[in-house]
This record gives sequence, structure tokens and C-alpha cells, in this order.
Amino acid sequence: MTGTVLSGLRPTGRVHLGNYFGAVKNWVDLQNSGKYRCYFFVADLHALTTDYADTQSLAANTREAVLDWLAVGLDPAKATVFLQSRVPQHAELALYFSMITPLGWLERVPTYKDQIEQLRSKDLGTHGFLGYPVLMTADIAVYRADLVPVGEDQASHLEISREIVRRFNGLYGDVFPEPKALFTPTPKVNGIDGRKMSKSYGNTIGITEGAESVREKVMAMVTDPARARRQDPGRPDHCNLFPFHQLYSPPAEVAVVDVECRTAARGCVDCKKHLIGNLNAALEPFRARRAALLAASSDVVRDVLHAGDAKARTAAEATMEKVRAAVRLSPEP
Ligand code: TRP
Ligand code: SF4
Repeated sequence: MTGTVLSGLRPTGRVHLGNYFGAVKNWVDLQNSGKYRCYFFVADLHALTTDYADTQSLAANTREAVLDWLAVGLDPAKATVFLQSRVPQHAELALYFSMITPLGWLERVPTYKDQIEQLRSKDLGTHGFLGYPVLMTADIAVYRADLVPVGEDQASHLEISREIVRRFNGLYGDVFPEPKALFTPTPKVNGIDGRKMSKSYGNTIGITEGAESVREKVMAMVTDPARARRQDPGRPDHCNLFPFHQLYSPPAEVAVVDVECRTAARGCVDCKKHLIGNLNAALEPFRARRAALLAASSDVVRDVLHAGDAKARTAAEATMEKVRAAVRLSPEP
């Protein structure tokens, strides 16, 4: 073991192909490399930063997400899988960090003002939302993690995390390693309408979605808009379907699709049918594992989280003892 890896995702329910290639697949690969101590968690406190007024689906979304994580291969025997809110040390460390984090750092995070604009229906002029990166820093630092697999969209958060940790170490002594983002090159996965795949756009394909539903969604996908008639040549680089072939069809078949599309030797309906076969074959083991988890006599999600929470708390508390000593709040014994 050469380091500690930590990452989290807000609970948004079942995992779609965008989440999978953007995060969860990398987690499984890191876990299976055997090189790192791994922590993966449901960031339910982070969900509260934007959804504090609507918490009714949080618990169900957590359950669905964890089921899918396990279905795609996250293994509690190899990684600690837990729920953020069940490890109160995250919140405690976030409070210490909040004391030393200048407001200007938080206000300058590029996504901060963007998000407030984009989510106009919610009042995000809150302390908690401004403090999002402070809590995220605590998530990482409370395990003294040094590697954080995240998408490029989290780069500015990781930058602040490094600065907060540096400032803490400067003030109180070297307690934390500086965390490094691990940007894994991820294929771009768009939704069935060609926009970024996102639950809020309703354009997702689930990693454990039923075969028939996957078929219907692929059949409805928009292809090269310039290919109005069957005999018009197509352009794979302008087609929303082609990237899915690149992900799910064998390389030799992708090459054939490329040629036959450009020469109009292949029609889009036929092209979709081939993709559906390959995609459904790839998803089948995930569906089967999810079904097996659901059929188990015990509540697997609850058991996995309970065990993970306890392991996480032990590790987090060891760090907090160092933190409290470093800050020197209590009188010397
Ligand atoms: N902000 C991350 C996201 O939206 C989720 C997250 C919370 C996280 N805490 C983290 C990721 C700590 C990595 C490390 O995807
Ligand atoms: Fe897209 Fe395939 Fe149609 Fe070409 S033939 S436009 S790759 S669906």
C-alpha cells in the first residue's frame, strides 16, 4: 500500500453510464490494483448543501447508489464504503478548517457563482453552500488521504483543499499530507439526447438498467442530424451513437461502423441494433449482481454501510486526536 485514496459522490440514485465512466469505474480499478488504502463514500452532507429543503429522497438515493456501486464491483473487503453523515468527524474537522479558511478563497471558486445562477430555484446564499469545499477538504483530510480521484469539474475544489491543508499545517504543525487530484482520462459519455448525461436532463442510461429499457432508449437516440435519408453518408464524429460503439463494441467492429457509416453502407437502425447487443451484453453481469444483492436474505446495503461507517470512524477519530492535540484547545495533561 503506497497511499490512501478517497473519493465520494453525492447520492443521486442509480448509477448511469456518465457516473460510471466518470467515477465509479475508476474507483473499482483503484481498489483492485491493491496499491492503495481506499475510502469511497456517499456524500449525503454535500447533498444537503443544495437540497436542504427537500430531503425526502436522500435515503432512497443513497440505497440505490450503493447497490449499483456494489453491482459494478466495489468490494467492501477491499475498500471502505461508507456514509459521510455517519462519521461525525467529517463535520468536526470541517469546523476547524472553517476557522482558517478566508472567505475570499471560497467566493472565488469558479463553480460557486455559476451554481447559484444555475440553481436559481434554490436559495444557495447559505453558509453551508459557500463552505462546500471546506467540508470536502475535511472529507479528504480526516483520512489523511493523498490521492483523490475526481472529474475535472472538481479541480478548483481540490486546489482549495490543498491550500486549506497547507494553511492548517503552517499554523499548527504538519498533520496532513497535501492531497493530489487523480484525474483519470475518462471518455466523454453524452446522454441519449446528445447533451451531457445527467439525471436532471432525464437523458441517462443506467448501468443496471433493464435490457428492454436500454433497447428503447438506444432506438430513440439522435444520430448524425445531416443523415436525413438512409442513402445519405453519415459522419460518426457528428453522431451521438458512435461514442457508445467506441465504449462497447470490439475495436474491429468500431472500424467497420466507421467505414460503413461514411459510405452509407450501414443504416442507423441496423447500427443501433448492433450497439444494443453489445451494450446489453456488457451490462448483464451488473444487472445480475444487483438482482442477487436484492435477493439476499439480509439487507446488504445496510450491512455494508454499517461496517464501513465503523471502520471509517476509527480511522477518522485517530486523525482527530492528532488535530485536537495540534490545535491545543485543552490544557496540557
Ligand atoms: N464534490 C464531489 C462531487 O460533487 C463529491 C465529494 C464530496 C468528494 N467530498 C469529496 C469527492 C471528497 C472527492 C473527495 O462529485
Ligand atoms: Fe451514427 Fe451509426 Fe447512423 Fe453512422 S450509421 S450516423 S454511426 S448511428
